[in-house]
Amino acid sequence: MKTVFITGASSGLGRGLALHYAKEGAKVFAAARRRDELEKLARESENIVPIPLDVQDTGALVNAIQAAGDLDMVIANAGVGGPTSARKIDWATVKKIIDVNAGAACVTVAAALPRMVARDQGHVVAVSSLAAFRGMPGNGAYCASKAALHTFMESVRVDLRRTRVKATTIYPGFVKTELTAKNKFRMPFLMELDDAVKVMTRGLARGARTIAFPLPMAAVTRTLGALPSAVYEPLAGRVRMF
Ligand SMILES: NC(=O)c1ccc[n+]([C@@H]2O[C@H](COP(=O)([O-])OP(=O)(O)OC[C@H]3O[C@@H](n4cnc5c(N)ncnc54)[C@H](OP(=O)(O)O)[C@@H]3O)[C@@H](O)[C@H]2O)c1
Repeated sequence: MKTVFITGASSGLGRGLALHYAKEGAKVFAAARRRDELEKLARESENIVPIPLDVQDTGALVNAIQAAGDLDMVIANAGVGGPTSARKIDWATVKKIIDVNAGAACVTVAAALPRMVARDQGHVVAVSSLAAFRGMPGNGAYCASKAALHTFMESVRVDLRRTRVKATTIYPGFVKTELTAKNKFRMPFLMELDDAVKVMTRGLARGARTIAFPLPMAAVTRTLGALPSAVYEPLAGRVRMF
């Protein structure tokens, strides 16, 4: 791997992925809003290039990806969460979650693809979530954003079938990061960040189409996904997450 562009690299999964690939010797373009965190990260490896930007600034995001040159991998990882229970919903929170997690993530992948397709090589990666498979209580915007990314990446894979460009969707369960530190509810099968980074990078190295982890949580969400709505909705309606 020679060059990687990662959004949301200032903390959590993105930071872990940036350090992993930098240690492997790749040049890593690390994008996020917090310049100070990116500069701290860049002090850990000379292979890391801080790219301070807000992924909601589409022009800045696309320019940064195009200016990075021939990329071997782009990882659309930047994401935000937040309660959006329909009983006390705030449209601005809904918009932000959808814009960052779905809009900007799809733009990240789309901005990298033309050059990869022209070179017939490269790897586009999107970090969705196990929350993509069902409308979970209190999390409509987050689940919808991750479901959109899941479906977008499925089409991307279909379209790339006769090329050598790879596309992977990652579906993490709960991992200890700044995002989950805000959660007040119990998080089943909560994983350490380093373990999550190992699972993701091993899967990416073998060119997996999808990476869903941890396995017990993936099995639970797949099972929930298979339930008829008439069974799922009353069941999920009993849970108050926020
Ligand atoms: N942790 C989990 O349990 C879990 C589970 C499933 C899926 N995921 C997904 O994994 C991804 C990474 O999350 P994480 O858990 O590592 O959370 P995190 O530690 O909060 O990291 C989120 C990253 O996204 C960046 N970001 C947020 N909004 C941005 C914006 N507008 N522009 C640029 N960068 C932005 C943040 O950087 P700045 O604040 O510096 O901009 C940060 O680097 C997300 O897509 C999340 O939905 C996480």
